[in-house]
Amino acid sequence: MSVEGKARALTVASLRRMKAKGERIVAITAYDALFARLQEQAGVDILLVGDSVGMVYGGRADTLAVTVDQMAYHTACVRRGASRALVVTDMPFLSVQGSFDAALAHCGRMLSEGGAQAVKIEGCPAVEDTIRRLVDCGIPVMGHLGLIPQSIHRLGSWGQRGRSEEEAARLLDEALRLEKAGCFSLVLEKVEPGLARRITGELSIPTIGIGSGIHCDGQVLVNVDLLGLYEEMDASFVRRFAHLADPVRAAVAAYAQAVREGSFPSQDEV
Ligand code: KIV
Repeated sequence: MSVEGKARALTVASLRRMKAKGERIVAITAYDALFARLQEQAGVDILLVGDSVGMVYGGRADTLAVTVDQMAYHTACVRRGASRALVVTDMPFLSVQGSFDAALAHCGRMLSEGGAQAVKIEGCPAVEDTIRRLVDCGIPVMGHLGLIPQSIHRLGSWGQRGRSEEEAARLLDEALRLEKAGCFSLVLEKVEPGLARRITGELSIPTIGIGSGIHCDGQVLVNVDLLGLYEEMDASFVRRFAHLADPVRAAVAAYAQAVREGSFPSQDEV
């Protein structure tokens, strides 16, 4: 379908329909209005305001330091840049694991202040009941299983999940529980591809894969990874659809040279 043909705003219900029709779902991270606009113009379905912002823009080694205030700010920026794509915001580390009232207030901010249509929450079963209650309150929730970066210190590595029979059974069970709790979709991160296929087949909600093979209902990548801007990322599942770091460095170097040699600005550039 052409980009023009996709002018109607997407909803969480649209994603279910896409799964039913076998239409693959395209998700990408966004952290600001500029990239949100460009990516929406390119025809993506979901703009995920990822807490990966703490790594790619914050320069940190993991996502744990990202705050609710920061996510609300980035969500509002993305919302201003996009009108058709579904905006989903990552709930940061420990923002939904305390009291339900606190979880509701934190998630509610992403919708009311940030303009997101949904939130994403990592893990299960600690958050299962909270997810059920959030959905009851009108907050759509996307789940996230497999390699859940906020639990990196418990997991101990960034490696693939679901390789052992025991872990595969646990992940399948958690996926079914999250669907039952009301999640409208589920991110599967670095899940062994055969298991990701099985989970995708057993759920009626769409799965969005990252590093989990081709059989998920959709895919998500971090925008600056696929654009070749975040050179620190060297995961095997990232395909660089462009290599923009080099042209950025070259343009800035050309500017610096022009300033230093006195050729910028010219008489007309005033
Ligand atoms: O924070 C993030 O960018 C994410 C995606 C990579 C799934 O959670």
